[in-house]
Amino acid sequence: MSDTVSYTRKDDVAILRITNPPVNALSQAVRAGLMDGMDRAEADDGVRAALIVGDGRAFIAGADITEFGKPPQTPYLTEVCNRIESSPLIFVASMHGVSLGGGLEIALGAHYRVAQPDARVGLPEVHLGLIPGAGATQRLPRLIGVEKSLDLITSGRHVKAPEALEMGIVDHVVDGDPQEVGLSYVRELLDGGAERRPVSAMDKPAAIDWDGAYEAALAKGRGQVAPAEAVRAVQASVEQPFDEGLETERRIFMELMETDQRQGMIHAFFSERAVGNLPELKGVEPRALQSIGIIGGGTMGAGIATAALLAGFNVVLIEMKNEAAEAARERIAGNLQGALKRGKITDAKYDAMLTNGLEVSVNYDSLASVDMVIEAVFEDMGVKKDVFGKLDAVCKKGAVLATNTSYLDVDEIAASTSRPADVIGLHFFSPAHVMKLLEIVVADQTAPDVVATGFALGKALGKVSVRAGVCDGFIGNRILATYRTAADHMVLDGASPYQIDKALTDFGFAMGPFAVADLAGLDIGWATRKRKAPDRHPDERVPTYIDCLCEQGHFGQKTGKGYYIYEKGARRGVPNPEIEDLITAEQKELGITPRDFTDAEILRRYMAAMVNEAAKVLGEGIARRPLDVDMTLLFGYGFPRYWGGPLKWADLQGLPNLLEDIKSYARDDPWFWQPAPLLEQLVAEGRNFDDLNKQAAKA
Ligand code: 3HC
Ligand code: NAI
Repeated sequence: MSDTVSYTRKDDVAILRITNPPVNALSQAVRAGLMDGMDRAEADDGVRAALIVGDGRAFIAGADITEFGKPPQTPYLTEVCNRIESSPLIFVASMHGVSLGGGLEIALGAHYRVAQPDARVGLPEVHLGLIPGAGATQRLPRLIGVEKSLDLITSGRHVKAPEALEMGIVDHVVDGDPQEVGLSYVRELLDGGAERRPVSAMDKPAAIDWDGAYEAALAKGRGQVAPAEAVRAVQASVEQPFDEGLETERRIFMELMETDQRQGMIHAFFSERAVGNLPELKGVEPRALQSIGIIGGGTMGAGIATAALLAGFNVVLIEMKNEAAEAARERIAGNLQGALKRGKITDAKYDAMLTNGLEVSVNYDSLASVDMVIEAVFEDMGVKKDVFGKLDAVCKKGAVLATNTSYLDVDEIAASTSRPADVIGLHFFSPAHVMKLLEIVVADQTAPDVVATGFALGKALGKVSVRAGVCDGFIGNRILATYRTAADHMVLDGASPYQIDKALTDFGFAMGPFAVADLAGLDIGWATRKRKAPDRHPDERVPTYIDCLCEQGHFGQKTGKGYYIYEKGARRGVPNPEIEDLITAEQKELGITPRDFTDAEILRRYMAAMVNEAAKVLGEGIARRPLDVDMTLLFGYGFPRYWGGPLKWADLQGLPNLLEDIKSYARDDPWFWQPAPLLEQLVAEGRNFDDLNKQAAKA
């Protein structure tokens, strides 16, 4: 028998047990092993039924994703599922842990399904830019109807066993050892005279408005094609005989396999897991972490405190005045209320977090015993240095001292203490209890175990943590500043902010740059422009039309007016008519004759600026690997996941084309469009960013 599928027998039941750690992915060896197991079971005298069960922590987590993009190898998964279903034996799947994608498809090929109460099932293929490719789009609608199937297939969501039972996906839910539970269920079925029950032979489900469902899935996916294509595959289950439906599913699956979106999504899947895997941290133990001090209870401090409380840490929050401290407590309570309403915590947990978990204070001495402090006071070097001086005086030896600064020099902050090795940047994103990204900013003298503690904190908070070096804005905000500037230049040259926002949401961004600026607060950019003014190069083009709005106290969403006007409480605004006049006035002053931009041109310039700056960030070692940049933009800046990140997108476009674009833009503005040396090098060597990722993985 194969190494991955063992064959044993209990009375008249054959047991096919899959052992392919860590999650029993359906590699070629597992598929072949299942085929062999079926041959043997059917030839084994007296065997009447067969049980499929998984070893370890999952039934089966789906197809082996590492095989995607390579030539498919027989036996195909569809054949395995069909073979299970058409076997003369009664087939039962006993499902524990996860049964995802092809794993659920194997179970749907079986005639009966039993699951553990904490098991989860799902068809997450859309998260990989695909649709189920081994029969689920044909079998599931026959089993549970079209609506419920579309819900699962187009969202990719996981369903817990009790819900799966209610939906009709599994037949029985019972706790115990998966093999024992499975065997007793088979016994029950055999003793009760149960017969084979092939799902493909069940009645076809009823039709729905397919075009409506297709358009809805396309809109919800913000341009991602797989969920919409899944609708067409499910449509085939209603309109075609089973075998033809399977062929339709296969055709769509194979077409999607060839798309850039599939490549982007799979890059995201593996990068999300690789991002926290740093060679420098191998064997480095993080410091103990139970209590966290937070300085400043404004937007960020309160959000970070909320995230820490939700992850089970004790929090001591310091503010300047008692009123501010109480306001911070209210802010945190409001955030936790949200978690309570969404069922993430119970009433008892909510009360315990606010009474036992959180202490607010105006006295820095309250920080004497905390394991880590995260500073989130005003973005001002003087204020930060003052705070770090106080922390140096009161915190215990070995406490990690972190700053949440967005742009400031972490080396300089560290130098204001007597223990720079304990100082690190932990850059959260707003709202800090919701946004997944955490930039871990490693300063010159930061100790390795302090870096490891930063990553341990990120993991505990459920964040995607990215290592960054020190520079103005680190990875994300530095790149943002550049592509924002490219957008501003296009506005000066004639594109409207609203056309730019639309071109970028059409590309798949959650929001365009001007809507984002309104959300973040226009005062931030205004302050940055003022801060940078003294060192500005004379050739740098800096549009200032929006500063007029700031001077009048309009800072975007929080004041109700910015690029857009927001009705009271509204999160979406309508274009602000004053903006056009402000732009026209600046164009006149600078002697610019506005010209038209196509959406495609807007996108290319915006992305060229993003990729070029990202390549500089990489070349300077601020980001270690291209995938670090990709994950930063994906989890902190609303970059569409199906493109995998800006550098994956760049690879897919072809780096020589991008470099050509940058050089052509440089003819008009050589200061802004200076090609990144790394980009020029990669083009000259005929390599791309993915080659650098692979090189780093081997190191
Ligand atoms: N194929 C290959 N490797 C897989 C895998 C898969 N389907 N699923 C997980 N892995 C690997 C991960 O890359 C990781 O490897 P690493 O340790 O080298 O980084 C390891 O297994 C453990 O995974 P996680 O770190 O993600 O462990 P978790 O416990 O957090 O999560 C999981 C487990 C829920 C199974 C999660 O890994 C997951 O969601 N996997 C993807 C499931 C999926 O998308 N299945 C559908 C595949 S497509 C398909 O089936 C097509 C079919 O319709 C034809
Ligand atoms: P905020 O203005 O909302 O809050 C700052 C808080 O710090 C105020 O409540 C203030 O009373 C308090 N404070 C100031 N000096 C203090 C001191 N010496 N001791 C104790 N408390 C003090 O500011 P916000 O937005 O929360 O930003 C805080 C930091 O986080 C800044 O460095 C900012 O750059 C950074 N940041 C902000 C993000 C955002 O989107 N707002 C995102 C990521 C980082």
